[in-house]
Amino acid sequence: MSASSGGIPAGPDKSAACRLAVIGGTGVYDPSMLEGVREELVDTPYGPVSVRIGRLATGGARLPTDGEGRDRSIGGGRGPAADGGGSGAARGEEVAFLSRHGTGHAVPPHRVNHRANVWALKSLGVERVLATAAVGSLSRDMKPGDFVLLDQFLDFTRGRASTFYEGAKPLNPGAPRGVVHVDVTAPYCPDLRRVLADTAAELGVTCHPAGTYVCTEGPRFETAAEIRMYAQLGGHVVGMTGVPEVVLARELSLCYAAVAMVTNFAAGIADRPLTHSEVVEVMAANAANLRALFGRVLAALALAGGEQSCRCGEPVEVHGAS
Ligand code: HPA
Repeated sequence: MSASSGGIPAGPDKSAACRLAVIGGTGVYDPSMLEGVREELVDTPYGPVSVRIGRLATGGARLPTDGEGRDRSIGGGRGPAADGGGSGAARGEEVAFLSRHGTGHAVPPHRVNHRANVWALKSLGVERVLATAAVGSLSRDMKPGDFVLLDQFLDFTRGRASTFYEGAKPLNPGAPRGVVHVDVTAPYCPDLRRVLADTAAELGVTCHPAGTYVCTEGPRFETAAEIRMYAQLGGHVVGMTGVPEVVLARELSLCYAAVAMVTNFAAGIADRPLTHSEVVEVMAANAANLRALFGRVLAALALAGGEQSCRCGEPVEVHGAS
């Protein structure tokens, strides 16, 4: 798979495209909702990326309905449910899986190659991305084991490569030219968030419908004072890797949603020092919920095809490219 020269990747033609992707964060290293998984090394202007691609193995996947049989999944909730009780049509849909931290958590948060990751997915033809994020909670209401559907972020990262557009003369051969000031008023796809919320409700998992994600530079955890400040600023959960991934997804016109899993109360709220092992243990204990949620949502998205009512797919405005 080769990178595009000069512009954003066009992707393969529709029949060969892999339209859905999962980016697994801390504790989510395997594409357990997929079967027949193969590995592909995708070249990008930012380096090669290993992506695993498999077919949806889900059973019992259904489109969320509004109780009167109307489809509430994608495209504004019009028309009859496409699949009231089975998953036949969704089964077999190819889905790309990318482990943000590499195998066995080999890549620390501040060194994740977000540009290569997002570019690789786009060049496979991906249109919609579901990401996971392990987070600490800034609020007693969001407890370890809870899901939070992120709707906003506060960016405290420092110096991360957060755009594909490096001006008229980009350093990376094959990178797009020009300058983009991307709109991130609502950074996470509202369509995907709605399907996730409806599906989480159907599954009976505790899922907060919205939350502001504070992204720190890491890899250290925060001080108690930092956490107090983030809470005063309106943050609900804290993590180290969600930004600039979400911004880059928007630059490439992808629908992107992130499901945060609370693994701990944040520093100063927790009554003991934080450890990475604790984070991984809580993720592992809740892996079945995450698998069920993603399996169903991916099946719903596969059934919905390319229909969308969000504006994520609109191309960005590029300035000064020549
Ligand atoms: N802080 C930052 N990142 C995290 C945390 C936290 O408390 N928990 C899981 N990821």
